[in-house]
Amino acid sequence: MPETGPETGPEKAKVAIFISGSGTNMAALLDASRLDGCPYEIVLIASNNPQAAGLALARAEGITTFALSHKGMTRAEHDAAMEGAAHAAGAQYIALAGYMRILSDGFVTRWQGRMLNIHPSLLPRYKGLDTHARAIAAGDSHGGATVHLVTPELDSGLILDQVEVAVLPDDTPEALAERVKLAEHQLYPRALAAYVSRAGG
Ligand code: GAR
Repeated sequence: MPETGPETGPEKAKVAIFISGSGTNMAALLDASRLDGCPYEIVLIASNNPQAAGLALARAEGITTFALSHKGMTRAEHDAAMEGAAHAAGAQYIALAGYMRILSDGFVTRWQGRMLNIHPSLLPRYKGLDTHARAIAAGDSHGGATVHLVTPELDSGLILDQVEVAVLPDDTPEALAERVKLAEHQLYPRALAAYVSRAGG
C-alpha cells in the first residue's frame, strides 16, 4: 500500500466576523467552525469597540483580532481600516454579528454577495432597531431572526434563512431578545455554512 499524506480535506472558506458588543453570535459561529465538516473557518474578529467582550473571547480562542474605535474618524476612514484588516487576514467573506455601524456604500458594494448579517426580526418586518418591542407592540405571534446578504439599503438584502420564536403572553423585549438570541446561535452557523457551500460559490 502506498503511503498517503495526512488528510487535508477540502479548502475552507475564510470568514472575518465584525462585532460591536457581547459577541455571542460570534462565539456560536466560531464554535461551529470547529466541528467536523464545517465548510468555513474564522480568520479574524474585528470591532469598532475596543471594549467589546467578544474580543477577549476571540483572543483567548487564538483568533486574530482587530479593534479600532470609530470615534474621531470619518465613516470612510474607519471602514477602510476594517476592510484592510479583513484583507490582511485573507478573508473571503465577512459575517456581521451585532456590528452596530452602518457601512459605507463603497464597502458594501465591494463585498456584495460575500457579506452576511444577522438581524433580530423576521425581515422584511422591523428593519432597524427595537425589533422585539415593535413585534410585541404589534401583537405578533412570533418574533425571530433573519440571516441576509448585506446591500446598501439597510436590512434589505436577499434573505438566506430565518427562524421563528414564539412571543409569550406578557413577554418583554428583553426576554424575547434573549430567546431569539438562542435561536440566532442555531441559525447563523447553519446559514453561513450553507451559503459558503452553495453551488457555483
Ligand atoms: C443580535 O441579536 C443581532 O441579531 C443584533 O444584535 C445582537 C448582537 O448580539 N443585530 C442587530 O441588531 C443588527 N441590526 P451578540 O453581540 O451577542 O451576537
